[in-house]
Amino acid sequence: MEDENIVEEATAEAEKATSSRALYEAKMKFLGRTGKVTALLKGMRDIAAERRPAFGKRVNELREKLEALFASFEEKVKAREMREKLAGERIDVTMPGRRSARGALHPVTRVSGELIDIFAGMGFEVFEGPEIESDYYNFTALNTPADHPARDMQDTFYLTDEFLLRTQTSAGQIRYLEKKKPPVKMLSPGRVFRSDDDATHSPMFHQMEGLVIDEGITLCDLKGMLDEFARTMFSATSKTRLRPSYFPFTEPSVEVDVSCAACGGKGCPLCKGTGWIEVLGAGMVNRRVLENCGVDPDRFSGFAFGMGIERIAMLKYGIGHIRSFTENDVRFLAEFKD
Ligand code: DAH
Repeated sequence: MEDENIVEEATAEAEKATSSRALYEAKMKFLGRTGKVTALLKGMRDIAAERRPAFGKRVNELREKLEALFASFEEKVKAREMREKLAGERIDVTMPGRRSARGALHPVTRVSGELIDIFAGMGFEVFEGPEIESDYYNFTALNTPADHPARDMQDTFYLTDEFLLRTQTSAGQIRYLEKKKPPVKMLSPGRVFRSDDDATHSPMFHQMEGLVIDEGITLCDLKGMLDEFARTMFSATSKTRLRPSYFPFTEPSVEVDVSCAACGGKGCPLCKGTGWIEVLGAGMVNRRVLENCGVDPDRFSGFAFGMGIERIAMLKYGIGHIRSFTENDVRFLAEFKD
């Protein structure tokens, strides 16, 4: 009879529904506000009073049947949907991960670290002075008074009449000697500033200063230490040579060359055919500088040296232009990964 048709129809509709939503819509066709079973119930009022209880019972049974029917389909559909959802969210833990880019130390940081390692190994202590320096520490105490022609060797950025951006880490020698009395072995890295700009000069660059003061220190000690530095920094067969030079804070003063690591000293374009490359300035600390720091120059002597860190990095890694250090080109920086 009619009820069986409705059950059959509902079963067919439920079977067609492939999602919870479609199943719900199918269910509403029968049990919703405008659904077929609801319509039957609404039709009760047209039925003769004595037949109403039997009719009501029948429709209620039909409703219960359909509710059970849809409930069982709902369970199946929900279970399937859950399986599909879990399958879609499954993580393959054996899949290779995405690599994140790893940085590298900047070549200046790297060379600076290597220099500190070399000299710390010889007993030097690291000391950092300020970048804004007074005229006194940067020049006057280093035996370079206001009218001294050597001030023209460096184009200075003055902040006021008294303060400037330090042009050399040599200022650290004075500050250190004011605090520590000989014997001392000091190494002072840092940024320095000069009004200068071309392929090998930059208005900001880094220097590494060294200072050794004790009784009986001679130029031979400087030479021996430099040879050790060159062998560790450049190559096991590197040699150094001293050429006479001039700095107000040293006497005698020397310019130090290292044998060209690219050609082994035979002569090549890097060393302009000479077999030697200039790497730093040095000398025996001028008596006046020792006196300025309250150190007795008749008892103590010492040597000092100062090198450009970018210059050392350029030589070591064959870098052509000093601007490469500040351009932050990732392709350049990536070459310094270990
Ligand atoms: N301060 C010098 C410069 O900037 C380098 C230098 C030369 C430092 C001789 C020294 C030294 O300590 O003894 O060119």
